[in-house]
Amino acid sequence: MSIQSSIKRKTAPDIRARKRGEPIVMLTSYHAHTAALVDRHCDVILVGDSLGNVMHGFETTVPVTLDMMILQGAAVMRGSRQALVVVDMPFGSYEASREQAFNAAVRIMKETQCGAVKLEGGVRMAETIAFLSGRGIPVMGHIGLTPQSINTLGSFRAQGRNEADWGPIVDDAKAVAEAGAFSVVVEAVAEPLARKITETIAIPTIGIGASGACDGQVLVLEDMLGLSPRTPKFVRRYGNLGPAIEAAIESYAADVRSRAFPGPEHVYDMKKN
Ligand code: KIV
Repeated sequence: MSIQSSIKRKTAPDIRARKRGEPIVMLTSYHAHTAALVDRHCDVILVGDSLGNVMHGFETTVPVTLDMMILQGAAVMRGSRQALVVVDMPFGSYEASREQAFNAAVRIMKETQCGAVKLEGGVRMAETIAFLSGRGIPVMGHIGLTPQSINTLGSFRAQGRNEADWGPIVDDAKAVAEAGAFSVVVEAVAEPLARKITETIAIPTIGIGASGACDGQVLVLEDMLGLSPRTPKFVRRYGNLGPAIEAAIESYAADVRSRAFPGPEHVYDMKKN
């Protein structure tokens, strides 16, 4: 008897084939239950290293570890059924050598069963991307603003604002595509540059703060839901859950304090939300 699910999960080649086609919808998720919601509407779920900021309250993604990514990646795989799940390779897990990257990516893929990994960097990571994709590991690139480099960049600033600065970013995009990445996140670049990159390379571009000129979009789920204490200015809000959650917690605290709480007969009566 087959143990394969009847629902076919999207694959890296499915996403690669969407170049200049229907826009690719991608959101982050780090938990099984939010993954189940995101899964119903998105082509790709990114288990981003932004979980360091969102879940752990770090100022940057630098402290995030491979174990953190694997734990949350496995949870997202359990919660989702049809989206391609891409897990970020955290800072320090892939930059030293192609072999280091391969070993880290294999751990991610074996222990989470996700469909692809993402890593930051263009020209400087091209050899590693080719090494991984040539050995059965689909790679999503990430160029423009690369948050793991915050300590050399100095700030989270938009990239390529002047045409004179476009060259290295276009070179990064070409290097990632030619190395065999199946798609590339383009972060915080001005619209004309995002358009140029999207028109130039053969793989889908997925923008974040990079305009609608890309082949798809990604946002951090908590940012678009209004749950993050601070969000980049470009983020469009689709919800305002922070105040709603706080109101619910306030009502709960009031119930507890006034002893208005259900008795044990209700406790294990499950209802579907
Ligand atoms: O970690 C993350 O959420 C990301 C997105 C910003 C693309 O890499």
